[in-house]
Amino acid sequence: MYQKLIAGNWKMNQTREQARAFLKELATLESAANTEMLVCPPISLLTTMVDENDIKINLGVQDVAVAVKESGAFTGDISAKMVQELGASYAIVGHSERRAMHGETNEIVQQKAINAIDAGLKAIICVGETLNDRDAGNAVDVVLTQVLESMPKIATGDNCVIAYEPVWAIGTGKVPTVDDVAEMHAAIHQAVEKQFGANIANSMRYLYGGSVKPSNADSLLSIDYVDGALIGGASLKATDFNGIATAQYITSAKRINAFDIAHQR
Ligand code: PGA
Repeated sequence: MYQKLIAGNWKMNQTREQARAFLKELATLESAANTEMLVCPPISLLTTMVDENDIKINLGVQDVAVAVKESGAFTGDISAKMVQELGASYAIVGHSERRAMHGETNEIVQQKAINAIDAGLKAIICVGETLNDRDAGNAVDVVLTQVLESMPKIATGDNCVIAYEPVWAIGTGKVPTVDDVAEMHAAIHQAVEKQFGANIANSMRYLYGGSVKPSNADSLLSIDYVDGALIGGASLKATDFNGIATAQYITSAKRINAFDIAHQR
């Protein structure tokens, strides 16, 4: 059944007390009908959140090890299998901060997506253009290359989510126009359809990320092929995060039908 995915990326933020308070407060707020909610805290908080997750939101991680092995001599790394065992069900891979600060290439991102999927996690593969790319008129080309080179061959609508996050919109308060987001999401869907077939393309969810907040969620989440949001700053406050999840967006019947039919196949 079609559901938007409202995903929070806490980055390197929150203490244990803050995480507990967040879950408690979220439990008191109006629940979002027909919406899947996910929080990806730092690994340090995963066990606390799994244990105190009375409202049963999904929990995930912001990265997984690139090593193909589930364990071994990889100092500092944590494998997808290890976080799956702790209770994570999603892994963000290839966030632009990891691509920029840790030199993650599409090849690395693809391997991380494979590792996540092999461990039974859903991979949220992040892509997005820089301001230079957009100003040069290359945004769509750059993003489609990232999508096709980062998605593994084993990707399906059940194990993979694509998150489009323009680098210049992350944490800046700037958002692309509705037309620009619509153009990009339609182009991504079309590229996935060409490479993986209509069934996989229609059953996959495409998130928008970059300065999403309660006040712009209605319009962003109403765009065709925007099947959810990846939220940084506004996911740290339960009221803001929930405000996005309960936004008054409209999803076209065409999109819902295509998604549901593709899932039944
Ligand atoms: P932002 O971050 O919502 O703070 O812009 C989005 C992200 O990095 O996923």
